[in-house]
Amino acid sequence: MSIETDFLVIGSGIAGLSYALRAADHGRVLIVTKGDITECNTNYAQGGIACVMYEPDTFERHIHDTLVCGSGICDRRAVEQVVTGAPAAIKELVRMGTKFDRSADGTYELAREGGHTENRILHAKDLTGAELERVLVRQVKRHPNIEVREHHFAVDILTQHHLGQMVRKNTSGITCYGAYVLDLKTQQVATVLSRVTVLATGGVGNIDHTTTNPSVATGDGIAMVHRAKGVIDNMAFIQFHPTSLYHPGERPAFLISEAMRGFGAKLRLPSGEEFMSKYHPMGSLAPRDVVARGIDNEMKTRGLDYVYLDVTHLDPRSVIDHFPNIYKKCLSEDIDITKDVIPVAPAAHYCCGGVKVDLNGQTSIRHLYALGETSSTGLHGANRLASNSLIEAAVYASKAAAHSIQKIKEIELRTDIPAWDYEGTSHPEEMILITQNYREMQQIMSAYVGIVRSNLRLDRANRRLEIIFRETEELYLRSTLSRNLCELRNMIAVGYLIIKDARRRTESIGLHYSLDYPASPGNEF
Ligand code: FAD
Ligand code: SIN
Repeated sequence: MSIETDFLVIGSGIAGLSYALRAADHGRVLIVTKGDITECNTNYAQGGIACVMYEPDTFERHIHDTLVCGSGICDRRAVEQVVTGAPAAIKELVRMGTKFDRSADGTYELAREGGHTENRILHAKDLTGAELERVLVRQVKRHPNIEVREHHFAVDILTQHHLGQMVRKNTSGITCYGAYVLDLKTQQVATVLSRVTVLATGGVGNIDHTTTNPSVATGDGIAMVHRAKGVIDNMAFIQFHPTSLYHPGERPAFLISEAMRGFGAKLRLPSGEEFMSKYHPMGSLAPRDVVARGIDNEMKTRGLDYVYLDVTHLDPRSVIDHFPNIYKKCLSEDIDITKDVIPVAPAAHYCCGGVKVDLNGQTSIRHLYALGETSSTGLHGANRLASNSLIEAAVYASKAAAHSIQKIKEIELRTDIPAWDYEGTSHPEEMILITQNYREMQQIMSAYVGIVRSNLRLDRANRRLEIIFRETEELYLRSTLSRNLCELRNMIAVGYLIIKDARRRTESIGLHYSLDYPASPGNEF
């Protein structure tokens, strides 16, 4: 079966939905998403969305904080574009109906998170992402030019390779013509032909055995571009959130928002001692890489499974009012956060690298854009500043929409792509082979490619992953196409890209901390 559309958008988080809404007045938009429409990282976001709102805050300060947090390797043009584009993006979200919290005087209540030198985080209690997703989904469902297909899994993007041509990394003019999309209910693969294709497939958190990300975050877009010989960038920089609720085996790990530390929460050892001030002058509110390493160090040297986050010294009513979702979740685990300290440990959270894009969100492959967490815009450098990702997705969605709307008139739909070849794939493989390899992949990445790395650990991870890669490719060739198998394949590709980027680096910088290399200035711990 083949389907034709002007804009194919893969993913239904803030990036995909924001783009779709802007493109829909200029052509037909098809959104495919592999789960329910709201199953995405966006829906889980807690702390908020960063934007300079009032004096004394300035664009210069937000730019400065982002650059410092990124350890000096951000692309300054991307940083300036996001920071200065943020107010317009927020205005648009508010126009659509987003309700950010306000103070009694009607001004927006702004929170602070790690690495920010000002209060500049707009939020909707501790459920900001769900509020954004609610509004965007409502707008998308109302738009007559947008069709949404849930439970549709994009397997691969279409390029000249599917026309029988040899495509290599250095092939010039690699072009995207759409994607093969598996309908998870009928198990049929559609050839979706589009003039413009947008990858908004989110993060990679499931690479690790503990993550704050929902199960959809398996780096599919990054793996697809890697297979299509597009450019991927900065994959070494996987951000661990310092404070997920300690609950072994819970997936996703429940996040205890950094906004709590912005509100006055302190990280403590079991003895009650506050420990972050010995690692950084900003203490518990230091940039995230420093806090995660500080906690990791305390846990390893003291043999702890977790440390504590403490809000018991703060006004209980105010704590419950600002963090009702966290309060409720902890209470369900018999932790009354107004009286008890919260056990927390780091968890894989955010992918700072991804598909390399320019200032318009264009990838190295023609007619293919990448937005949101799946992209590498240069905004985050070696470490993302808290609450900078939702705003990055919104700003780049607007830039990419404006750019692609201009271009689309010149783009012909390519209709000679062959249908998916089902040959040789009639046997559904035993699930155990897939789940066991998935678990092994997570173990390898967690043990050797986590918060602290070394050359030996990376080499070992590489060798182990290669074995799983070969086994999985064999499995892929002889099995019926399934979401689980495709995700495993994609996660292995992502693991390989992380290790490859980490191994080529000869300094400890931001989120890439190696025992073998000295830290760059400002990253001494
Ligand atoms: P997502 O929202 O993850 O959407 C990706 C979409 O792609 C999903 O719909 C998924 O189903 C779909 N998809 C993936 N692969 C395929 C495929 N092969 N075929 C079809 N569909 C596919 N950032 C902030 O700025 N502020 C915060 O407060 C904040 N809090 C966070 C809290 C948590 C617990 C988490 C996990 C993240 C948080 N982040 C926060 C990060 C932020 O939420 C994400 O980076 C951002 O939402 C990513 O948006 P996105 O649209 O790029 O991807
Ligand atoms: C949080 O609320 O701590 C998450 C913020 C982020 O990831 O940007």
